[in-house]
Amino acid sequence: MTRHPASRSRRRALRTLAQSAALTPLVAAWPPLAGAQTLPATPSCGANDPPTASQTEGPFYKRSTPQRSSLIEPGVTGDRLVITGFVLTTDCKPVPGAVLDFWQADAKGQYDNDGFRLRGHVLADAQGRYRVETIIPGGYPGRTRHIHVKVQPPGGRVLTTQLYFPDEPGNQRDGIYSPALQMALTRGAEAAQGSFNFVLRRA
Ligand SMILES: [Fe+2]
Repeated sequence: MTRHPASRSRRRALRTLAQSAALTPLVAAWPPLAGAQTLPATPSCGANDPPTASQTEGPFYKRSTPQRSSLIEPGVTGDRLVITGFVLTTDCKPVPGAVLDFWQADAKGQYDNDGFRLRGHVLADAQGRYRVETIIPGGYPGRTRHIHVKVQPPGGRVLTTQLYFPDEPGNQRDGIYSPALQMALTRGAEAAQGSFNFVLRRA
């Protein structure tokens, strides 16, 4: 298959990005989760990759969430999930300092509308990487499992979207579900590992 030269150069840039990410000691500063993958997967951007699609915010967003690496508070039960990935521009440049603000239902499909249980934000690091610990949410009437997120580059426009899980029977019954917003998911000994790269339009 013939590749556009720009695509090759992007892949080279991403390889360099991933290699430098693998050597960065900042990883050690992340809270440990025994047995869990701590590095996001190598990003893959093609010449014609579209920016990440926006989706409805829904009724449960709350502002002023805490900045924290784990959304799990005491009393929260459910299957552990670690989500990692990159925040990139459409030309595959990392977006350091991007804010990723997550909110989601608990394992029973309930949102905490009083406090900030399963709500919180993290920042992308110097290589554009992010990592957040949470649980796999339950679905609720009319909705398959999903995690809401707002992604904002420094000084830039907010992307509001949702992340989905593969192989969910509810996906095909949910009119909002989009396969383009599905995480790659693997099951680990301690936690499931979700991976998703956000691609933002340049300002
Ligand atoms: Fe929701």
